This record gives sequence, structure tokens and C-alpha cells, in this order.
Amino acid sequence: MRTRPLKVALLGCGVVGSEVTRIMTTHADDLAARIGAPVELAGIAVRRPDKVREGVPAELITTDATALVKRGDIDVVIEVIGGIEPARKLITTAFEHGASVVSANKALVAADGAALHAAAEEHGADLYYEAAVAGAIPLVRPLRESLAGDKVNRVLGIVNGTTNFILDKMDTSGAGYSEALDEATALGYAEADPTADVEGFDAAAKAAILAGIAFHTRVTIDDVHREGITEVTAADIASAKRMGCTVKLLAICERAAHGESVTARVHPAMIPLTHPLASVREAYNAVFVESDAAGQLMFYGPGAGGSPTASAVLGDLVAVCRNKLSEATGPGESAYTQLPVSPMGEVVTRYHISLDVADKPGVLAQVAMVFAEHGVSIDTVRQQGKDGEASLVVVTHRAADAALSSTVEALRKLDTVRGVASIMRVEGE
Ligand code: HSE
Repeated sequence: MRTRPLKVALLGCGVVGSEVTRIMTTHADDLAARIGAPVELAGIAVRRPDKVREGVPAELITTDATALVKRGDIDVVIEVIGGIEPARKLITTAFEHGASVVSANKALVAADGAALHAAAEEHGADLYYEAAVAGAIPLVRPLRESLAGDKVNRVLGIVNGTTNFILDKMDTSGAGYSEALDEATALGYAEADPTADVEGFDAAAKAAILAGIAFHTRVTIDDVHREGITEVTAADIASAKRMGCTVKLLAICERAAHGESVTARVHPAMIPLTHPLASVREAYNAVFVESDAAGQLMFYGPGAGGSPTASAVLGDLVAVCRNKLSEATGPGESAYTQLPVSPMGEVVTRYHISLDVADKPGVLAQVAMVFAEHGVSIDTVRQQGKDGEASLVVVTHRAADAALSSTVEALRKLDTVRGVASIMRVEGE
């Protein structure tokens, strides 16, 4: 074993960074044995140096992240500060100064992964980011390496723990969205500003990363159709239950049937209780991968939190250090298929639509005609009437999303339709 240590700079020492520090310290011997050389934490860049950080060596703390990545003797930079800047500048500076990078930064990789990969390649460095998608769950490496000989057709998953916790609460307790969000906040699952999670930005970034790797093409967060969970109501959940379904925020990346484009989307959807993703409870994540040769694979586990995310960071650190020692690099960006990303309108899916209508002769026929005019075939209709009004629940067969949304638009214009109470896609059948 080489005795000269590999030097590591850590950018950020919050929940994940302090766990990375703890594991690097307590498991130093095992890490050295697995890598083939000791790894030494050479500096930790933070914004607030006076904050108490138990177990973090005070002499390693600096507020000058740029000077740390420019030192020239750093082998690997671990970036766990998140956000676009200064993370992007620090990562590219690290490459310019000979370091490889391990990052947990989903927002940055989803926005600018291609440029970061190009910078890594230019400087003969590695860029690894297993921790950017679904915390501890191995997904990036299985897709990039284990399934490199297969053809992935679909990635379908729950990749945001906060929203899964909220939807699970609504499902089990009958609570409304606000009440469930309050509970998630009180228990520390939701942040003070939950926008990134509840509006689907976090899941969309992860979907972009997964789609790009799975289909060997470039997908950025701007290519991902995104809808959050803020408009999911207790009535939607009750309606799902009546259909033998539950509601989940899904990230769905698919190769189009003709094979010449891909789609990536994040939105709430009803899935049958018999689907394995329906049993993913609380803040857990799970991702289903469907490929030609392997068939269906499911990856399940904790998608967030200091320790699980640190596990993914440390796995990447070991891989990157091994590459350094053998003077090689791991797999870079694979975007050779250059498949375009189709708009949401071209996605083929099913809708569950709940309408409040007048209960009089001809209304059902009128509603059915709107579906027919837009080429959308109805699968089931359920009507419940009361005092001259009725609630009508229509579930469609598969149709292009654009046809489904123009159907809903036309339904809203009917005098006999008092309101569209809920619209939700149905997936996983
Ligand atoms: N906030 C994310 C979640 C974890 O709730 O799953 C980090 O991506």
C-alpha cells in the first residue's frame, strides 16, 4: 500500500459534510485498505467558521474555498455546498488544479452537467455524483456501469422523500396537504422553505440526471416537465383509494415507443396499490428501472439525510481515489445517442378526471362526446348524483397528454360542467 496519503478538500460542512468527515476519520484504516493508500482530509471550507461542529478538526476549517481548491496538492475535492454558484466555479477551478471531484449537487449537475463533464475530461479528472440522486441508493453507478451493456427503456421512481412523506401522511390519515406539510416540517422532513421539494424542482433535477445517464443523451432540468404536489387534495387521495390506487410524486423517464426520442417528467400520479412503488412509505425513495435484458429492477432506500448521503459520497471517494492511484479516470459523460427530449404533450398516459356536473338527461353523452372529439377513449365512468348535481369520475385509456389536456379544456367550457374537481395521471399499470 502506498504510504503517501491522497489529499481531500471538503467544500461544505453541514449535515452531509460533517458525516463525511466523521466517516473519513473513524473508518480511515478501512478506506485506506480499500483504496490502496491513506486518504487525508487536508481542508474544510465553510461559510461560518464559528459554528460548533463536533468531531470536525478546527485546524482544517477555512472560509477561503477558492484558495483551498487552488492549493495544487489536492487530489480530490468533495463538494457538498449545493446550488449553482459558487459550486460551479469551485469545481471547475478544482479540475484546473489537478483534482477530481465528488459532488452531491443535483441542481448543478442537472443544469450544467455537460460542461462540467467536459471540464473534467479536459483536465484528465473524474466527476462523480452518486449522492446527487436519491441519497444512499446506488443509481448513478448501476445505470452508468452495471447496465452499460443493456438498453434501458424506462426509469420510474419516487426520488423525493419530503413529498413522499407528505403524500403518505395524506393517504394514511386523511389529512389535507397543508396539515401534512406542517407535520413534515415539524418532524424535520420538510425545510422551512419547502418550495424545491413540494413544487417538484428537486425531483426534476434528479429525473434529468437519471434520464441522461439511462438513455446516453443530454437531458437538463429545463427539459423535464414538472408539476408539484401542492394541489393534491384529500379528495384526490380518497378518489385514488376508491380505484385501488395511491398517489405518489413520480419521476418518469422514458424512451419513446419509436425509439427516436426520450421524455422526462415529474408529477403526482395515481398508481395501483399492487405496484411495488405504492408500498414505499414515509420519506423513503425507490426507483424502478426497466431494460431489455435485465427486465425490471427496483432500487429502494433512504433518499436523503446526512448519513445516507455521506455513504454515497464516500463510495464515490473510494472509486475516484482508486482511479487516481492507477492514473486512470472512470466513465465520463455518455451522450452519444443524442436523442432529443420530446415535450410533455407527446407523452402517452392515462387520466383520472373528476367533474362536477348537472344531473340531467344528455349530460353524460355531452361529456362523452368531448372525449370522442379529441380522440380520447374512455375506460370507466362512475357517477354519483345528489340534488340535481352529480360527480362524474372518468378514467381514460392511454392517449397523448396533449389530447388529454385539450379534452379537459373543452370540458371546462361546457355549461353543464360546473367544475373540474381533479385531474390526475394514472401510471404503473
Ligand atoms: N430534499 C430531498 C428529499 C433530499 O426530500 O428527498 C435531497 O435531495
